[in-house]
Amino acid sequence: MKRMGRRRASQLLAGYGQFLLGRPTPSSHEQSISGSYSKLNTWRPCCMFRVSVGTPQASNYLNLGKTYAIKQRSFGSAATDIPRNPAFSKLNADDISYFRTILGERNVVEDEDRLSAANVDWMRKYQGSSKLLLLPKSSQEVSKILHHCNSRKLAVVPQGGNTGLVGGSVPVHDEVIINLALMDKIVSLDKINGILVCEAGCILENLSLFLENEGFIMPLDLGAKGSCQIGGNISTNAGGLRFLRYGSLHGTILGLEVVLANGTILDMLGTLRKDNTGYDLKHLFIGSEGSLGIVTKVSVLTPPKLMSTNLAFLACKDFTSCQKLLLEAKRALGEVLSAFEFMDSHSMDFVLSHLDGVRTPLPSSLYNFYILIETTGSDETYDKTKLEAFLLRSMEEGLILDGVVAQDINQSSSFWRIREGISEASIKVGAVYKYDLSLPIDQFYGIVEEMRNRLGEVAKVIGYGHLGDGNLHLNIMTARYDSDILAQIEPYVYEWTSKHKGSISAEHGLGLMKANKIHYSKSPETVQLMVDIKKLLDPNRILNPYKVLPQSCFN
Ligand code: FAD
Ligand code: MLT
Ligand code: ZN
Repeated sequence: MKRMGRRRASQLLAGYGQFLLGRPTPSSHEQSISGSYSKLNTWRPCCMFRVSVGTPQASNYLNLGKTYAIKQRSFGSAATDIPRNPAFSKLNADDISYFRTILGERNVVEDEDRLSAANVDWMRKYQGSSKLLLLPKSSQEVSKILHHCNSRKLAVVPQGGNTGLVGGSVPVHDEVIINLALMDKIVSLDKINGILVCEAGCILENLSLFLENEGFIMPLDLGAKGSCQIGGNISTNAGGLRFLRYGSLHGTILGLEVVLANGTILDMLGTLRKDNTGYDLKHLFIGSEGSLGIVTKVSVLTPPKLMSTNLAFLACKDFTSCQKLLLEAKRALGEVLSAFEFMDSHSMDFVLSHLDGVRTPLPSSLYNFYILIETTGSDETYDKTKLEAFLLRSMEEGLILDGVVAQDINQSSSFWRIREGISEASIKVGAVYKYDLSLPIDQFYGIVEEMRNRLGEVAKVIGYGHLGDGNLHLNIMTARYDSDILAQIEPYVYEWTSKHKGSISAEHGLGLMKANKIHYSKSPETVQLMVDIKKLLDPNRILNPYKVLPQSCFN
């Protein structure tokens, strides 16, 4: 490996000075990675300053509604021609009257504009034709709705912030939409242990802001935080940007209240760290995408808010350097490492071209790969010294070609905006075929290169994701959805992933898009047990039909 001298490394990182437009220019002493950073601001968690996604917000359901221009009904994955299950009833006037008696007039929504927003997903890719949106205010109301729907065999789709990326949150046909937006109360916070109990409709960002005032943080964070609901996060088992540090929701969710298809309210809302009394059934509902029950309340273990956060935006020449940097970061930064995010030059280029106001912090060149490394700890001096030493060493060893360390919250926010803006940029150009893969680290980037070669000029192929968690996002963008292009992508991507012992859904779920693809990642026996569980908990299959499991399993 080509090694870089200490002086050259310091100079490169000092290049960040160029980015500090509008700020007092730091002295070379401050800019140098090996120098003291005594004048750097005290950091606050960056998440407070991140940008929320522009999605149909819950408020659109609650207020007068808003018309969303739906481009066209088009699908990127072969899951479209699903016939309506003839066993389901059609909604009638008596059903609507009954719902009005339980929920009141306002929360039984038939307004066309509000329905069109609720019928289409965030990517404008999946669109249903539901005639009814229900907005319950309590678990009892959810229970009454489901009890009625089950006895009438009316299919339903549970919906949170509608930011899901696999078509799980919108109806396929005329399912009744049950959105939890009005169930947004915080129930309690144990201020000693950091255990939060709240309703499932709470928006993730609101929970984060509430907790930060109390000295805690949410254990998960993602680009959709301004719109997604904690119930939706749990139902998709969302991963996001803090997974590397705080792990899966299977670890941080301590309890759930869930309403089953027949209306039974299942109280599993424990707040204990340790509880080995029988099967831990809450796990069935974490990641089951609304197919087994509706999550109505949650109990979350929230980590303490630590005051010192640093964020570095780095460039690497090749993917091998990114891999080595990850290993070194884990070794050298250890307990303070809180995010290790990755994007290729094509992702960077895409964001810069399609999102207004986004600038690269490394303007001198377009590098092959970019890495964001965040540290979060409790001792500012110690954390910074650790990070600086690590960055300097990595530059000397040639693992990093260029890099900058954010010096205030605006800069950190602008760094995150680049990484988090990739999804938003991707939906600006017609069609996006989206894949969310878990892959062994040595195979991580191979599929991106293969797809680029395979598709040539017809598509833009970008790779980014949570490298620290082995989670690659592969987005393939074309001017419009096209079945010939789709045929070049699928099943190739799934077969490749399966061959390399990966998962075809790392964090977004299966939804409608990948319900028929589950066998690429799960054995027939495992899928059969899932089908049996579904039949046990929802014998009429009213909950989120056509999603998660192949329809053929039920014939
Ligand atoms: P929805 O989209 O409304 O629903 C998702 C699924 O959960 C559906 O199947 C729905 O039926 C079900 N559901 C919703 N609420 C309930 C409930 N209360 N009970 C039972 N079922 C329910 N995902 C990640 O994992 N990591 C990321 O980093 C990430 N970043 C994103 C960034 C952007 C810009 C966007 C648009 C999405 C991102 N996502 C990410 C995808 C998405 O899964 C998450 O945004 C989020 O977890 C979905 O929550 P939601 O409330 O919007 O759920
Ligand atoms: C992300 O990590 O940015 C999200 O999972 C969303 C996406 O891939 O579009
Ligand atoms: Zn992601």
